[in-house]
Amino acid sequence: MSSNARTLAKQLIVGKAKKGRELAGRFGHAPKKPVERVTPIGRSFDNHQGIIALLGINQHLEDSQIENPYFNAWSERKGSRLLIDNQWKINFSSYNYLDMASDADLAEAAKQAIDQYGTSVSAARIVSGQIPLYEELEAEFADFFGTEDALIFVSGFLTNVSTIGYLFGEKDLIVHDALIHNSMISGALMAGSRRLNFAHNDAEALDKLLKIHRNRHERCVVLIEGVYSMDGDVGNVQAIIEVANRHHCSVMLDEAHSLGTIGKTGRGAQEAMDIKPDDVDIWMGSLSKSLGSVGGYIAGSRMLIENLRYYAPGAALYCATTPPASAAAALCALRKLKTETWRVKNLQENSSYFLKRANELGLNTGISDGTAVVPIIIGDTNIALELTARLNKQGINVQAIFHPVVPDGEARLRFFINTAHTPKELDYTLNKIVENMKDIRPS
Ligand SMILES: Cc1ncc(COP(=O)(O)O)c(C=O)c1O
Repeated sequence: MSSNARTLAKQLIVGKAKKGRELAGRFGHAPKKPVERVTPIGRSFDNHQGIIALLGINQHLEDSQIENPYFNAWSERKGSRLLIDNQWKINFSSYNYLDMASDADLAEAAKQAIDQYGTSVSAARIVSGQIPLYEELEAEFADFFGTEDALIFVSGFLTNVSTIGYLFGEKDLIVHDALIHNSMISGALMAGSRRLNFAHNDAEALDKLLKIHRNRHERCVVLIEGVYSMDGDVGNVQAIIEVANRHHCSVMLDEAHSLGTIGKTGRGAQEAMDIKPDDVDIWMGSLSKSLGSVGGYIAGSRMLIENLRYYAPGAALYCATTPPASAAAALCALRKLKTETWRVKNLQENSSYFLKRANELGLNTGISDGTAVVPIIIGDTNIALELTARLNKQGINVQAIFHPVVPDGEARLRFFINTAHTPKELDYTLNKIVENMKDIRPS
């Protein structure tokens, strides 16, 4: 550890104790608040609200004679296809945008990492879980984003929860786009900060909100995404950064669906929207989408990363980290992203073709910008489920998304486009949607 880092660590130990007391309070150990009168429920979870909701959904599927579309196991993958129930299906249900997840070079890199380090580092990084491979991957991320440093986490979801939950507290304000991913909201809940949202991509609405609320809080962070995964539209990143700067707020940008998919060579928001490394304070992304692995990363200033490295729960502390095989696969993918430019080119051609043909066929693609996520909005949940089941039988694997994940009446089929899809597969799929829609009626 450098002497600067040691000084920083000392300073932060004091802060950590304070934060610990705050966290203890948040989890119900410290302040004694009056408790509402409740009726004790007992030991069993059979009557938990989740199970009650699930039984209702299952009953509904049974009454409508629709097969449960979830947890369908696949046994093999080849490019754009998955082998499910002994049938090769055109797959639109995974985030394997650049077809890295079954790439031979990634597999070889992962195998070599297992040969060298085993299947697990068997410890949190801060104690004995550190290996040069993690440092190499983090240096590659920092170089990729032009930031001073970067840090990997064991999951993308946890990256958001841990980073937001650790950095912000009760005196702070977290303002987010209304369509932000659940992982960021979970982080905000853990932080215990005041949380407000603004209409999707609406920089003016953000401005109005900050004019009223910003000065009542210590820190304020604005949470946004590069590409929104329910609608497939690009974030209004530049305008939102401009507003956030004016109100002295930090910006955290989740690039889970924009890294590898937008910008001429897949460099995400920096390339597609001319965002500079310093415009965003907290660059976040996932290893499980374009990078064919699993995990997440934060890239940013040296102080931010050093802070998270020592104190963010679930980064290098309280948690065994990313398996060496996953880190090696992500490192290999990040390097390939720079050299194998055909992957991004094919993906972008496929995505625009799918959007254009869908619109020509009169399908409703909502506000999708022709990124690698294209929803076909159906409206009625039953019709969306029925359509999914039919397409499945016709060799097309796609998932229906409905309320409460999207607003009521906006049920949709969400298509994740892949660099390996062929125009023939895309045409077949769109034609089947149109054909089926003609004879499915609301029940
Ligand atoms: C916008 C966004 N952020 C974070 C995540 C979490 O990433 P991971 O699935 O790699 O844990 C997701 C997951 O789909 C996501 O869509």
